[in-house]
Amino acid sequence: MEPTGPVLTIDLEAIARNYRRLRDLAAGAECAAVVKANAYNLGIERVASVLQQTGCRTFFVATLEEGVALRSILGERAEILILNGVGERHLACSLEHRLTPVLNDLGQIETWSACARRQGRPLSSIIHVDTGMSRLGLPDEEIRLLRHDPARLAGLEPFGLMSHLLACDEPQNERNDQQRKEFAAHCRNLRPARASLANSAGVLLGAPYHFDLVRPGIALYGSNPRPADLNPFSEVVRLTAKILQVRHIDPPQTVGYDASWSARRPTRIATLPVGYADGYLRSLSNRGFCAFDDILAPILGRISMDLITVDITELPEERTLPGSEATIIGHPVTLDSLALSAGTIAYEILTSLGPRYRRVYRPATGKSNASDQTEPDARSLRKSANNETSA
Ligand SMILES: Cc1ncc(COP(=O)(O)O)c(C=O)c1O
Repeated sequence: MEPTGPVLTIDLEAIARNYRRLRDLAAGAECAAVVKANAYNLGIERVASVLQQTGCRTFFVATLEEGVALRSILGERAEILILNGVGERHLACSLEHRLTPVLNDLGQIETWSACARRQGRPLSSIIHVDTGMSRLGLPDEEIRLLRHDPARLAGLEPFGLMSHLLACDEPQNERNDQQRKEFAAHCRNLRPARASLANSAGVLLGAPYHFDLVRPGIALYGSNPRPADLNPFSEVVRLTAKILQVRHIDPPQTVGYDASWSARRPTRIATLPVGYADGYLRSLSNRGFCAFDDILAPILGRISMDLITVDITELPEERTLPGSEATIIGHPVTLDSLALSAGTIAYEILTSLGPRYRRVYRPATGKSNASDQTEPDARSLRKSANNETSA
């Protein structure tokens, strides 16, 4: 049977290119990759393998289960860190699969250091200090206790230190500098072997934010970490679907559930086989766009479970026949513009992409290609990021 449904194309070369760009921007700091949630739902096996081939050695996932799966994909050489921490019942599995925990409170530090003492060898870890997220990581009082009682770190040396920025997509937000200074002070006091603060948007904040290890996620997958600026990263995801049906309606006919859109002129409508069951968010009802080549076609009416309806009145008829292909995600409907229309963020659009899409992976060529050169130069970008930081 020939597949007829929507096609999700994932460009592995673009992921490799984005990794190289981030590594250039990190300028000397090691560039890790955040591949949790199945590499932001793009397929951890393909994504992590291409990142490893591109030179990435350090990978962050959220859970132990993700770490175990990733170890079998990457083999022994990669370092795999578990952001959600470690508990007593995870110890055997962490040791067996050589998974490095991010230690998020004093209890986890105690658990891991006791394990190291029992093993009779130091165990690697990264200690997470909270500098404002109030989510994971040691709060101030625990950091003070640790500072005044370094014996708690027995068996953990050399350890790393990390924290997480809370507003780094806004370069002018003063919380960035506050968090950076607070983190730098913790580094001076605790003397970690390596320090990590920056996610994707943090990388763009410039060298003072890079420390030893940067941990980008979303930029690898093509979203712009700084929505106010031009996107320095390449699009990774393209979703296309073929028109199922075309119909003409006249006023006062309406479209879809609840008759939320009514025709004020003769209107041509195309129905496409994508819906909220595929992660095409309902908030895009009467708000989103798809495209035919470079021409945008607005969504009309409510998003249904399996279908959307779009206005093709202004489009050439021969380009919008049943079977003609529409772009649901991909230039000119970028991931970020779709997220904006849906009132959400690119992370949610990606992690919602549904299981019914046929996935096609465009292979990585393994070398820098011409399109690397057509995008903004990494050095000038880094320079401007630094300028913004110091402003
Ligand atoms: C602790 C931590 N570091 C790094 C990242 C990567 O962030 P981003 O995808 O914004 O680059 C995440 C993502 O949620 C995270 O939770």
